[in-house]
Amino acid sequence: MAKILCTGIATVDIINELANYPKEDDEVRILSQSLTRGGNATNTAVVLSNLGHQCFWAGTCIIPPSEDNAGDLDSQIIINDLQQHRVNIQYVQFLDSGKVPTSYIILSRATGSRTICHYRDLAEYSFEAFKQLPLEDFDWFHFEGRNIEHTLKMMQLCRKRLPKVCISLEIEKVRDNIETLIPYADMVLFSKQYAQNSKTPDARSFCLEKNRQYPQTLIVCAWGKAGAGAAFKQDFYWQDGFRVDTVDSLGAGDVFNAAMIHQQLKQQSLTQSLLYACRKAAEKCTKKGLIT
Ligand code: FRU
Repeated sequence: MAKILCTGIATVDIINELANYPKEDDEVRILSQSLTRGGNATNTAVVLSNLGHQCFWAGTCIIPPSEDNAGDLDSQIIINDLQQHRVNIQYVQFLDSGKVPTSYIILSRATGSRTICHYRDLAEYSFEAFKQLPLEDFDWFHFEGRNIEHTLKMMQLCRKRLPKVCISLEIEKVRDNIETLIPYADMVLFSKQYAQNSKTPDARSFCLEKNRQYPQTLIVCAWGKAGAGAAFKQDFYWQDGFRVDTVDSLGAGDVFNAAMIHQQLKQQSLTQSLLYACRKAAEKCTKKGLIT
């Protein structure tokens, strides 16, 4: 069991399940509706917690309701869910203005695809808050690749103070200067979407090229249903995806990332780690909700 600090966001996900993805200007009936906590860093924290680790979330919320405060109900949903999954919230920054990020999600029953419309108006976790944390307490730091200016300083601080503690970084979307974070990570978990937007848009050439640019870093890239690849010391590893009937793919990438961190903490080989992570992500797709 490791102590893991996950830095990034939590959201409220409003999930509408439809028979098929709709056409523009259609009027369609929703088959089922649910409201849950989401967000990549907290999803990963919840999965790691369910795998037996002690997880802490460094992120922002609005002050939830209390006896003498009307508070924010969305934040209450987030906090309740994290507590239910034993994710520690003692380092959360509770802000008094803004709006907790909300994702309006269309889940297609026909394909299991998830289309996310995301709204946010909330300050992100600050370096000022991060530098107050007892960093020595942790065995692993996981960062979402966002809020680049602050995240860069956070990663630099972890590296400087605790050079032996592993740092993982998720890079999902193309953002200005996001690659400045890579030299401070031991493992970078890229998305297929990011790789496809690069000059080397297939898994093998993408992973090898990134590992050539950042030779100290383990490069991992999940490739949806097809599987996942990784490169280290200019060797490429590949695992085919498991064929399953996809019911709900929302959060499958976050499950994959958590499973990779779990395997690396257990010092498993890359072949074994990819096998386990692909299996966990596929299992998740067969069920509604995050937990496999
Ligand atoms: C899934 C997810 C959702 C959230 C969105 C944020 O990976 O974390 O739970 O709404 O992505 O980008």
